[in-house]
Amino acid sequence: MEKRIAVLVSGGGTNLQALIDAEKSGIIKNGKISLVISNVAGAYALERAARASIKTETVLKKELGSQQAFEEKIISLLSENKIDLIVLAGFMSILSEDFTRTYPHRIINVHPSLIPSFCGKGFYGLHVHEAALAKGVKVTGATVHFVNEIPDGGEIILQKAVEIKEGDTPEVLQKRVMVEAEWNILPEAVSLFCQDRLKTENNTVHIGE
Ligand code: GAR
Repeated sequence: MEKRIAVLVSGGGTNLQALIDAEKSGIIKNGKISLVISNVAGAYALERAARASIKTETVLKKELGSQQAFEEKIISLLSENKIDLIVLAGFMSILSEDFTRTYPHRIINVHPSLIPSFCGKGFYGLHVHEAALAKGVKVTGATVHFVNEIPDGGEIILQKAVEIKEGDTPEVLQKRVMVEAEWNILPEAVSLFCQDRLKTENNTVHIGE
């Protein structure tokens, strides 16, 4: 059966757009983006979803009063919409262990570095690229991984390396990592999941036929 996908977003939503485009062009096999949830009111990602006629919801922690109420609301939306796969695509809120344990190997995240470099608490968005440039690494990239209770600590599904060039700014590097890595490996990983081709064993994800 076709898998129903929810995408959780907080901002511009270029990774969401890559998923929408990949579904349209048939790169995502056996999956349908059925719901987009934002934790930021008015996030541009919501407009991208609406333009593609995808149902949207906004869930605000401030309005709900606690992390627990925030997560309970998200869980009830996921369950009402019969979601099989949860994709974090620029979702800038850390989910609790209770939440991640509810969906073992059913949540995936895209992170803009080669994990285990430049990841974990505090490493998100542009900060990741600032840290890579400050360290002077010559190669960076992006990682798609399963989400567990450790921030950026779940099993790695796909990675792609991206060259750092002389004179890169964090913004220039962020764009190159998106174009060359994130927008390709995220749809690819989603498609593999939807076809039941991801098998995890001893902390390693194997890609099956
Ligand atoms: C992307 O680069 C994504 O990898 C990163 O934020 C950006 C969101 O852009 N996510 C993280 O840093 C998560 N730790 P988008 O809203 O245009 O997809």
